Amino acid sequence: MITLKNVILRRSAKVLLDGATVTINPGEKVGLVGRNGAGKSTLFALLNGGLHEDGGDFSMPRQWRLAQVAQNMPETSESATDFVVAGDTRLAELREQLAAAEMAHAANPDDAGMALAHAYTDLADAGEHDAVPRAQALILGLGFKVHELDQPVDSFSGGWRMRLQLARALMCPSDLLLLDEPTNHLDLDALVWLEAWLQRYAGTMIVISHDREFLDAVTDVTLHIEHAKLTRYGGNYSKFEEMRALQMEQQQAAFAKQQEKIAHLQKFIDRFKAKASKAKQAQSRVKALERMEKVAPLLAEADFTFEFKEPANIPNPMLTIGDASFGYVQEDAPPKVILTHVNRSVLAGQRIGILGANGQGKSTLVKTIAREMGALAGTVTEGKGLNIGYFAQQELDVLHPGSNPLEHMVRLARDLGPQSRERSTEQDLRGFLGSFNFSGDMVKQPVGTMSGGEKARLVLAMMVWQRPNLLLLDEPTNHLDLATREALAVALNEFEGTLMLVSHDRALLRSVCDEFWLVGRGAVKDFDGDLDDYQRYLLDEAKRQRELAKQAAEPPAPAPAPVVAAPTPAPARPSEGDSRAQRQRSAQERQQRAEQTRPLRKELAGIDQRLVSAGAEKAALEARLAQPLPAPEIADAGRRLKLLGDEIEALEERWMTLSEQIEALAA
Ligand SMILES: Nc1ncnc2c1ncn2[C@@H]1O[C@H](COP(=O)(O)OP(=O)(O)OP(=O)(O)O)[C@@H](O)[C@H]1O
Ligand SMILES: [Mg+2]
Repeated sequence: MITLKNVILRRSAKVLLDGATVTINPGEKVGLVGRNGAGKSTLFALLNGGLHEDGGDFSMPRQWRLAQVAQNMPETSESATDFVVAGDTRLAELREQLAAAEMAHAANPDDAGMALAHAYTDLADAGEHDAVPRAQALILGLGFKVHELDQPVDSFSGGWRMRLQLARALMCPSDLLLLDEPTNHLDLDALVWLEAWLQRYAGTMIVISHDREFLDAVTDVTLHIEHAKLTRYGGNYSKFEEMRALQMEQQQAAFAKQQEKIAHLQKFIDRFKAKASKAKQAQSRVKALERMEKVAPLLAEADFTFEFKEPANIPNPMLTIGDASFGYVQEDAPPKVILTHVNRSVLAGQRIGILGANGQGKSTLVKTIAREMGALAGTVTEGKGLNIGYFAQQELDVLHPGSNPLEHMVRLARDLGPQSRERSTEQDLRGFLGSFNFSGDMVKQPVGTMSGGEKARLVLAMMVWQRPNLLLLDEPTNHLDLATREALAVALNEFEGTLMLVSHDRALLRSVCDEFWLVGRGAVKDFDGDLDDYQRYLLDEAKRQRELAKQAAEPPAPAPAPVVAAPTPAPARPSEGDSRAQRQRSAQERQQRAEQTRPLRKELAGIDQRLVSAGAEKAALEARLAQPLPAPEIADAGRRLKLLGDEIEALEERWMTLSEQIEALAA
C-alpha cells in the first residue's frame, strides 16, 4: 500500500503538492491526471525515490520492486532483444549469482555444489528459459519488425529507441509500474497492444496520460492534481470527469450559499457598527466572518487560447515535389531509400493530414520538406516567400535546456533579422510569452527544468512567432494537456496558410484536415476515404505485418506476476449501496434542516424588508424635522419618530435572535 499523509512537495519556489493525503491499494490501476505543469512527473519522482517530500509522510512497502521507463535516449550497440532482456533485473542478478557459484564450484567442487544447484533453480524460476521470447513478444507488440529484433539499439531513431525503453520496463517483473505518458511515441497499433498488455498486468500501476481513451481502457482509479491538491476518485477517467462535474456543481452551490451568509453577516455589521448598544454584537459578527472557513469559488481554469498570425504572404503553389526519392544517406553504405517517385504539389490553403502505418516514412517526408534533410533524387521546389513552421516534438533540440523562455525568444527574434526587430523589445517578448501562459517567474526558468507540456507549449509559441505560411506539424499534441490540445485545434482551424499534419490524435485530424495523403509501401498517394476507412486500412496492414512476423513470435504475454506475494485484495471499500444510502441520508437531513429553518428564514426576510422601509421613513422624518415646521407637525413627527425607533429596535433584536437560531440549526 502506498500512503501519502499531508505531503508537501516543492520544486524551487513552486509548491506542487500542499497537504496531499491519499492511499493507493495493492493491485490498483491508477490514472494520474492534471494540467501541464501540475506536478505529475514530480509526484513520480517522489514515488521512485528521486525526490524527497518537503513535509508530511510518504510510505511504500520496502520490498516492492519498481519498474519504470528510463527517460534517457539509450546509446548502445547491443541488439534490441538483448537490451530488452536486460530489463529483467532479477534475471540479471541471478545470472551473476550463477556465474559466482560456478566459479566457486570450479575452485572447490566439494563445497559449492549446493549453492550451484540453488542458483540453477532460482534462475529457472525467474523464467530464464523463455526470457528471449518474452522480450521479443514485447518488442514486436510495440511495432518493431521481425528483422529488427537483432539490430543494434543505436540504429533506431529516437522515437523507436524510446519504445525499446518502454519494452525494457515492461520486461522487468514488478510490484509497482510507473508509466509517464507511455503513449507519446506510439501509433494506434502499438497503443492498442499496450492497452491489452496493461490490462493483464497483475501489480499496482500508476500511469500519467492526457489520452482519455487510453486511460479509460487501463485504469480504475483516478488521482487528480490541481492547485497543489491531490484528489482520489474511484473510477476511470470518464467516471472521474462525471464525478468532478458533480462535485464542481456542489461546490458552486456551497459557495453561493456561503456568499449569501457572508452578505447577511456583513449587512448586520454595517447596520450596527455605529450603534453603541450593538457594537459588541456587531464585533462578534466581524469575528465570525473572519473565522469562517471560506469555500473557494470555482477558479475558472485559466483558459488558454492562441492564434496564428495572418501570414505576410501566401505563395501558390507552396511547394512542388517532382519525381523525388526520399531517404537517409548512410556512411559506408548505399543510401536507404524510403519513398520513391514522389510527385506532389502543395497548394495555398490546403489542409493535409498525412497518414501511414508505423515506420512507413511520414516523418521522412515531413523532414525533407522542412529542409532537415535533402531529397536523394528529384526536385523539391519551394514557392517564393515560403515560410515553414516546423514542429517536431520528438526532436526537442530546438530548445536549449540551459536557457529560459525569454532567452529563446530573444535569440529567435534576433535570428529572424531586422524586419522583426521592431516588435521584439523585452517587453513585447514577455507579453507574447504571457499569452502562451508563461508568466512572471516562468519566463526566467531554465527550459531543462520545465515539464514536458511546458516545453511543447514553448515550441508552439516559437513557431507562432515566426508567422509561417506553411505549418508542418509532426505529432504536435504529445505532452499537451486536453485544454491546450483544444486551443491548438481552434488555432489550426483559423490558420489561413497551408497545413500538413502528422498525428495519431484522431480527434485533431478529423477537426482540422480536409484531405489525406497516405504514406505506405514506398509511395505517397492521395487517400480517398475518411478516418474510419483509414482505421480499416491499418488493421489490414497490421494483419499483413503479423503474417510476416508469425514464424518468430509467440503471442505477447505479460511479464510474470510480481515476485513478492500476489497482491492482496484491496481492503473492503464502502460498497456503492452504502454510499448511495449515505447520500440519501444526508439529503434527507439537509431537507429536514431546511424544513426547520424555513419559517425562521421567512420571518427574517420580512424583518429585513421592514427594516429597510422603516429606516427610509425614519431618515425622511429626520430630514423633515430639520426644516422649520409648525408646532403640531413637529409633535406628530416626533411621536412617529419615537414609534419608529422603538419598532426598529425591536426588529433588530428579533433579527439577531432569528439569525442565531438559524445558524444553530444549520450547524
Ligand atoms: N528544478 C525545477 N525548478 C523549478 N521548477 C521546476 C523544476 N522542476 C520542475 N519544475 C516545475 O514544476 C512544475 C511541475 O512539473 P512536472 O514535470 O511535475 O509537471 P507535469 O504535471 O508532469 O506536467 P506535464 O503534463 O507537462 O508533463 C512545472 O511547472 C515545472 O516547470
Ligand atoms: Mg510530466
